[in-house]
Amino acid sequence: MQIECLKMTANKPTLYTILSPALLNLYDTHHSVVVIIDVLRATSTIATALYNGAETVMPVDSLEKCIALGKSTGGITAGEREGRVIEGLQHGNSPLEYHREFIKNKTLVLTTTNGTKLLHMALESGAENIVTGAFSNLSAVVGHLISRQQNVILACGAWKDRINIEDTLFAGAVVDRVKGHFQIDCDASSIAHSVYTEAGPDLFSYVKTKHASHYIRLSSYGLEEDIRYCLTPDTANVLPVYSNGKLSVG
Ligand code: MLT
Repeated sequence: MQIECLKMTANKPTLYTILSPALLNLYDTHHSVVVIIDVLRATSTIATALYNGAETVMPVDSLEKCIALGKSTGGITAGEREGRVIEGLQHGNSPLEYHREFIKNKTLVLTTTNGTKLLHMALESGAENIVTGAFSNLSAVVGHLISRQQNVILACGAWKDRINIEDTLFAGAVVDRVKGHFQIDCDASSIAHSVYTEAGPDLFSYVKTKHASHYIRLSSYGLEEDIRYCLTPDTANVLPVYSNGKLSVG
């Protein structure tokens, strides 16, 4: 019976969690589905724009590329640095800006401090299967990982390489839902799962009570509504899949 259990575990794909982009180079991204996570707010915005009918989201890692691609594609340029809209871009990184009446059938060219940067780091490291995840599309991500049965890396955008609570919470939520399907020999996944379990269902109160750094930053800009939205599961339940410079619904 024990041997049978071990065999079953050995046949399962692996799942690793990377709590900071600084650790990405330690993992084999080439043979894994890489889930880019930036709950506050890049990957929540990506899911929301696509759910509301955006044709594609083009994630870019610099302001210059964002402006140039906006011009060549006719897309809406958007993004932030330090959580604030940057001069030269048309829109910010609030998911609440991308309602259906505005974004339907449009292309969004997005550059952000951590999320789109990590996506490009994953590409440079050889990742070929990239999707994005946030609480907004939790069930879509979970369903994809379970049905695909391939090794998984949950890659947290964090904040300038420093581990953050909200991305760790999301990794924990995924681990909680998929754990029976993967071999998870990874302390970071256990940590994420413990944090998620400790948090309970009221994630907003949890990040507030823990004085999460990006909670403090965004709420000082009056963006508590964004934070509440980004911590609510399945509000924009689509799977953004990356291919040839674009994220579109998979
Ligand atoms: C990021 O990429 O770090 C974020 O999405 C920042 C934000 O706009 O809240």
